[in-house]
Amino acid sequence: MRKKAMRYQKWMTKHAKRLDGKAAIVTGANSGIGYECARYLLSLGASVTLACRSAERGKAALERLRAEFPAGRTDLLLLDLADFSSIDAFVQQIRQRDGRLYILLHCAGVYYPREATTADGLPATVGVNYAGTVRLTEGLLPLMAADGRVIFTTSLVDRFGKIRRDAPAPRGKEGYREYAESKLLLSAYACKKAAERDEKAPLFLAVHPGITATSLLDASKTSHNPLFSRLGHGFLYLFTHPKEKAALTAILAAAGDVKNGDCIGPRGFFGISGYPRVTRFCRRVRKQARIGQDPYRR
Ligand SMILES: NC(=O)c1ccc[n+]([C@@H]2O[C@H](COP(=O)([O-])OP(=O)(O)OC[C@H]3O[C@@H](n4cnc5c(N)ncnc54)[C@H](OP(=O)(O)O)[C@@H]3O)[C@@H](O)[C@H]2O)c1
Repeated sequence: MRKKAMRYQKWMTKHAKRLDGKAAIVTGANSGIGYECARYLLSLGASVTLACRSAERGKAALERLRAEFPAGRTDLLLLDLADFSSIDAFVQQIRQRDGRLYILLHCAGVYYPREATTADGLPATVGVNYAGTVRLTEGLLPLMAADGRVIFTTSLVDRFGKIRRDAPAPRGKEGYREYAESKLLLSAYACKKAAERDEKAPLFLAVHPGITATSLLDASKTSHNPLFSRLGHGFLYLFTHPKEKAALTAILAAAGDVKNGDCIGPRGFFGISGYPRVTRFCRRVRKQARIGQDPYRR
């Protein structure tokens, strides 16, 4: 196991239960936090399906994981959250498999993407981070084990999000505002699902990783100026916690002692970094969950 990840083994031993034989799906598993989560889940004995939009990047991640965990059970399925038909096809493939699903971990996300809209005409950020994630969740829910866990990766910025009154005409440029809006919508959806849960449903949990350097700001993925992307990445790498640590919030949700409706984030200053702790949804999220304002519903 890599040096940095080994650093967190002590925490894992103390807080994460074994998941032997339990089936997990991780979206966005080819990079960043999703990849680290897939690694941790494999180390706990889960069988992990990597749900990735790029066959090439997905395959590269699969090979790295198989090299690190030769006895682990992992496979790759393609999923593009910016395209409802791809999501529906993915759900179909999972339905054709035997057995219940124990963990659905949503890590895929975009920030300031190059594309303006999804295949279905939604603004790209909200389309991927919220609408696509919700469609995937609803499609897979009937397959989830009653003690399973659906985990949404939101963000600290959900509390600054503002939801538009009407679905806007998708614009060429998106940025922080759309990202915060997408994460507020996602957190509110998680909060509402948790509140409405009955005992046959899995637990609904929200996690945020604090801040960490990943490929989220990569010039190849975002509309940022490449220099800004590089500087931003360098700054985050130096001054925030590593992605191996950021991923622990999702691992506490997947394998730790948590309750339906818990919200998990780093315990450090303003939730930016640190080991995970359980909190509750913020007031703005709870209010949005009650109102249910959603100009993007399809
Ligand atoms: N990094 C942070 O500081 C931070 C803070 C708060 C929240 N988060 C959240 O954490 C999650 C993971 O992000 P990260 O930081 O690990 O960034 P990342 O390394 O860029 O990972 C994002 C993943 O999402 C995938 N993805 C993007 N669009 C997709 C689509 N249309 N369909 C399917 N998969 C798609 C990406 O695939 P490709 O590689 O093919 O692009 C990638 O695997 C995101 O939800 C992000 O919003 C991150």
